[in-house]
Amino acid sequence: MPDNTLTITDNRTGQVYTVPIENGTIRAMNLRQIKADPEDFGLMTYDPAFMNTASCRRAIPYIDGDRGILRYRGYPIEVLAERCTFLEVAYLLLFGELPTASELKTWVHDITHHTMLHETTKKFMEGFRYDAHPMAMWVSTVAAMSSSYPDARNVKNAENRLLQIKRLIGKVPSIAAMSYRYNVGFPYVYPDNDLSYTENFMNMLWRMVEPKYVANPVLSRALDILFVLHADHEQNCGTATMRTVASAETDPYLATASAAAALAGPLHGGANEEVLKMLDEIGSKDNVYPYIKRVKEGHGKLMGFGHRVYKNYDPRAKIIKWTAEQVFEVTGRNAKLDIALELERIALEDDYFVKRKLYPNVDFYSGIMYQAMGFPPEMFTVLFAIPRTAGWLAQWQELITDPEQKITRPRQIYVGHDQREFVPMEKRNAAAAQAR
Ligand SMILES: CC(C)(COP(=O)(O)OP(=O)(O)OC[C@H]1O[C@@H](n2cnc3c(N)ncnc32)[C@H](O)[C@@H]1OP(=O)(O)O)[C@@H](O)C(=O)NCCC(=O)NCCS
Repeated sequence: MPDNTLTITDNRTGQVYTVPIENGTIRAMNLRQIKADPEDFGLMTYDPAFMNTASCRRAIPYIDGDRGILRYRGYPIEVLAERCTFLEVAYLLLFGELPTASELKTWVHDITHHTMLHETTKKFMEGFRYDAHPMAMWVSTVAAMSSSYPDARNVKNAENRLLQIKRLIGKVPSIAAMSYRYNVGFPYVYPDNDLSYTENFMNMLWRMVEPKYVANPVLSRALDILFVLHADHEQNCGTATMRTVASAETDPYLATASAAAALAGPLHGGANEEVLKMLDEIGSKDNVYPYIKRVKEGHGKLMGFGHRVYKNYDPRAKIIKWTAEQVFEVTGRNAKLDIALELERIALEDDYFVKRKLYPNVDFYSGIMYQAMGFPPEMFTVLFAIPRTAGWLAQWQELITDPEQKITRPRQIYVGHDQREFVPMEKRNAAAAQAR
């Protein structure tokens, strides 16, 4: 008998089944043959929150959570952050290889020439309340692009997909900048094609009356590094949403907006904003210890700590810490850094966090750096969503071209009533009282 199989004995029937093991997994559908009787539907697995279920085969990001390793297409994240620009990495994610100089030139040109938004976007933006959260504006505006590009529905056409990918990667910083300018009440700034991806983003955010925006090179590079770090990260909540929605052959604008809606949650990409709120609440280094004590007693969580996959230091957090130091040399040190460092120091020595393998994640230091650069906390998750768009789109390409994939449709275990007699309105109070 080959070694790479699993033998299962069903103690209800005494039947023995052998199923193949491939890549450390068994196919859930192989369990369906295991039946208590011929009428039985067959065995399923129950896995709330997908703690132990692989839903796809992927060749892009690789994570070893126990050792704190992240690679994109085989390249360690540390090397990509140090040596590449974000658009170079986006190319790697989408096309599988690092671009040659001429491929990169064409790619950058193509993305740069898709940064302009349809003029009606301004009117759309004006419909938001003056204090609308930029992430809500970003998600809605990305979804609204579906109405400007109805051709995007043709998801089976590779050329068409590539066009939508370029549009999305090109336009998401423009939408982000518009949401920001709307919030602060400044007129929108049009893209400047002479500038790099992050410089242009900074131009659209912060240009005032100067004829040409000149970005501080340390800050634009820091932003670029942050974009590299956030570009893709396996089957997290937002990415799984992207795949679920895209599996229905929904267009990439709506699918990206859905993924971003998931990202907005405080347990996911919204954590970076929550970290800043937490540091504000702590207020000073002296209050760190009592705060941690409260968390251990079950009052809230340490935001920016813990991860479903990393049970070691998140490698991205290390790079962000280093990048933040470069940023602070330009902007001055963010006073919250001292509170964060103290929090990390105490938590990493504390049995509660050690036992549960809770380490700082990507969101722990990013907010402190973003704040020093001049971003308000409400923008932090938008800054996560911009680069993650490239990762979502790489997932989308993989999904659409994977012959094994079908529309996503998990199963459920029904635990409700059997069929019941309908209760007419006049008898419902009595029926409800009886049921209680
Ligand atoms: C990221 C996160 C959602 C992962 O959740 P998960 O894999 O489902 O892990 P669990 O919630 O099962 O956590 C395991 C244990 O650690 C504790 N824990 C997890 N994260 C914690 C945190 N940030 N602070 C305090 N305790 C935490 C849980 O309470 C649980 O304790 P228990 O075993 O006594 O019940 C979770 O760690 C979290 O909420 N972190 C804060 C939000 C955050 O930073 N999110 C960004 C992720 S990149």
